[in-house]
Amino acid sequence: MRKPLVAGNWKMHFTVPEGIQFVNRLRPDLERYARAVDLVLLPPSIMLWEVASVLRTSPIRVGAQNVAWEDRGAFTGEISPAMLAGWCEYVLVGHSERRHIFGESDEQIQRKVTAALRHGLRVILAVGETLEENEAGRTEEVMTRQLSRALDGVTADAAGRLSIAYEPVWAIGTGRAATPGLANEVMGMIRTWLAGVLSAGRAQETRILYGGSVTPENARSLMEEPEIDGALVGGASLKADQFSAIVASTADSMAAAQG
Ligand code: 13P
Repeated sequence: MRKPLVAGNWKMHFTVPEGIQFVNRLRPDLERYARAVDLVLLPPSIMLWEVASVLRTSPIRVGAQNVAWEDRGAFTGEISPAMLAGWCEYVLVGHSERRHIFGESDEQIQRKVTAALRHGLRVILAVGETLEENEAGRTEEVMTRQLSRALDGVTADAAGRLSIAYEPVWAIGTGRAATPGLANEVMGMIRTWLAGVLSAGRAQETRILYGGSVTPENARSLMEEPEIDGALVGGASLKADQFSAIVASTADSMAAAQG
């Protein structure tokens, strides 16, 4: 059985003191669930080191929201995988805001995934279709394109450090989450694709998260779906009580599934 993973993507929120204060408040509540759920916080890069220092003795893991594809050089404003490796365990790659606001291409995302995996980082690769693509019935085609380009050259072995986050663009920050059934269907399709490209075993082990307007109210019904192995949470990860409640629902639904 896959251990669920819940990640909080803080996006561009909190000053450094606010971020540290928030982690200190969240920590005791969250740590109670660490045996049942892998927990990851993705703070803005300016406070990554501070947050990682606070959590050094905690089971809660820290990750970056973005990474460069080169190890060093003239890349103003970027942070390389070599700089993150060793103290920061996870990195989010291909978030829809990176794709749509900052114009990241599938090719750039592929280079980031490869570079991060090469440095031993755990990658959460985000994929998702726009509303227009969804309404045109093109979800499967878009998923296949985003996945095949992003994972080009990634071996089944390296993919042991990979998770996928299915985040439909129309569900992000809109209060309109995908229905559990729809999310489960797309994620099942993603797993079938992974089995064909990596291996059946690797596909079974890979965690696929749902992201997009996850709240304490809808978390339980999403997490009960068999293909959904956790959540990538935006807005609700900025509220300690809401994030803890989502993690608690995830732990509960896993316990229920195990009987
Ligand atoms: P919301 O949970 O605010 O919809 O954001 C989802 C997201 O983009 C997480 O990466």
